[in-house]
Amino acid sequence: MTLFSHSSAPSLGVRDAIEPGGAWLCAAGAHINAGGGGFYYEDGTYYWVGEKRVGSASHGLNLYRSDDLYNWTHAGVVLAPVVEAGHPMEVGCVMERPKVMRSPETGMYVIWFHLELKGQGYGAALVGVAQSDSITGPYHYVRSFRPNGHDSRDMTVFQAEDGKAFLVYASEVNLVLRAAELTADRLGVTERDEPLLSRHREAPAIFAHAGRLYMITSGCSGWAPNPSEIHVADTIWGPWTFLGNPALGDEAGTTFGSQPTYVLPVQGRDDAFIYVGNRWRPKELHRSEHVWLPIEMPTAEGSFPVFRWRDRWDLAMFPERGSIDS
Ligand code: GAL
Repeated sequence: MTLFSHSSAPSLGVRDAIEPGGAWLCAAGAHINAGGGGFYYEDGTYYWVGEKRVGSASHGLNLYRSDDLYNWTHAGVVLAPVVEAGHPMEVGCVMERPKVMRSPETGMYVIWFHLELKGQGYGAALVGVAQSDSITGPYHYVRSFRPNGHDSRDMTVFQAEDGKAFLVYASEVNLVLRAAELTADRLGVTERDEPLLSRHREAPAIFAHAGRLYMITSGCSGWAPNPSEIHVADTIWGPWTFLGNPALGDEAGTTFGSQPTYVLPVQGRDDAFIYVGNRWRPKELHRSEHVWLPIEMPTAEGSFPVFRWRDRWDLAMFPERGSIDS
């Protein structure tokens, strides 16, 4: 008799935990194709926008939705390359690291992404902007540009508690991470645009906790993983203070084979943040693995947020809000 339950093949069905790395199937049974992703939460649902890849090619941006962070349903391609010759998003362009936010002024949902033009490798170094009146799209291309004239490759967006939002982007051929404040319609940058770090860092992921901002970054080694760094600051403009490598354990030198893309706050739980990284497979980027690990927040002066490898974990490790008496 064969015991199929011992199979290590991914199974369909309802998941009740996160298993970093490996295959992570969506409801339709396909591996989640959304590397470089960003997240948005609204009305009990998480949305995950990421790179749609086929082999090494870029096929636009995929959107997935989930109520529990374990089980994801494909909600469509929300932004696709176009056939029109000469268009910045002409088929053959590269769209990476999409991040989504909502404009407090217009109520529109806005995706920012790294855009490279067809046939130019990573030379154009543009940031692209698209918007939609629905989180699930479709999104319409608005513009692409170099922020205040600066080259822009890996990037993220971050909205602070005071309502101001920022593009954080790798510039000067990745030597300098810069921030530019966004306009209230979230469709452009203001002239406030300053260097944050000059340490050759990319893949920025920013989160706020207890009145401080933390930023996790990678080094610059293309698709190959490297040690991450975490910095802290009181405001986006810094100064940003180096804290160390937030990954702990044997594979810390490669951040568990991954590169950061986002830090995801878990709704309804205190001190609950998830490191979201990509274990890239350069020749089959659509099969790149998703490395999600819970961040352990500092409990003592002098310590800093860290994460360690776990084969399997679930949200119960984060206390529900209000469940701990202070
Ligand atoms: C990495 C970057 C990825 C992708 C890759 C291309 O440095 O983080 O998003 O652009 O280079 O080689």
